[in-house]
Amino acid sequence: MSRLSQAKVPEHVAIIMDGNGRWAQGQGKARVYGHQSGAQRVRDVVEAAGKAGVKVLTLYAFSEENWRRPVDEVNALFSLLVSYLKQEIDQLHENKVRLRSIGFTDKLPDDCQEWLKLVEAKTRDNDGLQLVLALSYSGRSDLVRAMQKIAAAVQEGRLQPDAIGEQVISENLSTQGLPEPDLLIRTSGEQRLSNFLLWEMAYTEFYFTKVHWPEFSREHLTEALREYADRDRRFGAVRMDKPVC
Ligand code: IPE
Ligand code: IPE
Ligand code: MG
Repeated sequence: MSRLSQAKVPEHVAIIMDGNGRWAQGQGKARVYGHQSGAQRVRDVVEAAGKAGVKVLTLYAFSEENWRRPVDEVNALFSLLVSYLKQEIDQLHENKVRLRSIGFTDKLPDDCQEWLKLVEAKTRDNDGLQLVLALSYSGRSDLVRAMQKIAAAVQEGRLQPDAIGEQVISENLSTQGLPEPDLLIRTSGEQRLSNFLLWEMAYTEFYFTKVHWPEFSREHLTEALREYADRDRRFGAVRMDKPVC
């Protein structure tokens, strides 16, 4: 990978790993084959992101809306997740990756929950890349839950309504403690958020590629990071190195 100036490397990259089904169907195969191939891309991308200097990588692996899919497909996705965790636990730990999950993971099958807890516990003290898996995740539901927690705190007298600000809301989301994503990548040509990190992406840079997730390589990640490095993020202000009219 060619070197990018460290100052221009996004601290937090979020990816909507999309297009597994269409990629498989394009080859006359079942959708599940696309998910199997997609799961194999995760290892490369995690490794490449860490090497590039990314600090947090959040992968949208299963949305709350994905429960609407046929039960066989849902079961296949969770069994792939368990296989991934079983296979990668040692390598992740060796590479100092710290795993965390966000979303309504209590809805996941028991073995998934157990493996997630195991990998999270084993990698808890690692100081390398933080890998965040969004599972049964919904940005709106996360906000609803945060508001319920805040309302309960107000009702119990632990919080004054006028003390509720952006920080209080951020602290009550499942992404609590994480920096906001600098770069969002979505594969497969769709240009929408599909309920991902709605609060957290207020100022995120978006990068859409037509490449389907099972074909998304280290080189594609490098290309996205390169484009990010050329973006001018102003956060509503004006650049002060040019004369302001
Ligand atoms: C992404 O690929 C994986 C999940 C949403 C779990 P899709 O399964 O959405 O693939 P397409 O979009 O139907 O091609
Ligand atoms: C978003 O992809 C969720 C994940 C990648 C996990 P979808 O394929 O579910 O999104 P829509 O339905 O096209 O918006
Ligand atoms: Mg899709």
